[in-house]
Amino acid sequence: MSIYSVAVDGPSGAGKSTLSKAVARELGIVYVDTGAIYRTIGYYIFREGIDPKDAGAVVAALPLIHVDMCYSEDGLQHMLLNGEDVTEQIRLPEISMYASAVSAIPPVRDYLLEMQRDMARRSSVIMDGRDIGTVVLPDAQVKIFLTADVEVRARRRTAELELRGTPKPFEQVLEEMKQRDWADSHRDAAPLQEAEDAIRVDTTDMDFQQSKEAIMQVIRRRTQL
Ligand code: DC
Repeated sequence: MSIYSVAVDGPSGAGKSTLSKAVARELGIVYVDTGAIYRTIGYYIFREGIDPKDAGAVVAALPLIHVDMCYSEDGLQHMLLNGEDVTEQIRLPEISMYASAVSAIPPVRDYLLEMQRDMARRSSVIMDGRDIGTVVLPDAQVKIFLTADVEVRARRRTAELELRGTPKPFEQVLEEMKQRDWADSHRDAAPLQEAEDAIRVDTTDMDFQQSKEAIMQVIRRRTQL
């Protein structure tokens, strides 16, 4: 198989990015974090003081937003907003809700669609997000729906925030995660949905190594790698 795509979808905190990154390294393919692209738009909207739920105002801002992606030598995906590297800023906790809100606006999704497809045309990718197997890459050779119980996801996110030096109480993380799950799966535009031909991997009772192996097995089975 020359160029192939692995689509990884699922709710926030399921471990998509950490696992996809590790799998990409093992397979020598490119990891594309599509959430980071929505976060970049969300960050611009936040910085300009625009209400992210005001679809008209967000759409009016789109022509002023130029998003680019590049990779450093260690394989880290950098996000450029009008030429400025905002890789760190987009991870600020308050940007999550902005990203979620702008991602529900159809013209925002259309604006980013070609950019994502283009990445998959250029090289083999493992791309994670919410609608990769259903909308962005419906012909992906491998589709994985990665999930875990919301309490387990919230616990993992709480630990991650603490590690980053931006701690938050577990109860608050859990509440915000439930809200974001609801918003991401009930919006009209490309809601989080399991593709019919996706393989479900539930990591509730798995550690990192077991989850990675489960994903590798699905990929091997589907691609005969
Ligand atoms: O994966 P993440 O938490 O970085 O994503 C941020 C938000 O972007 C998330 O709440 C939903 C949205 N998103 C999306 O709508 N479609 C994608 N393919 C990726 C993310």
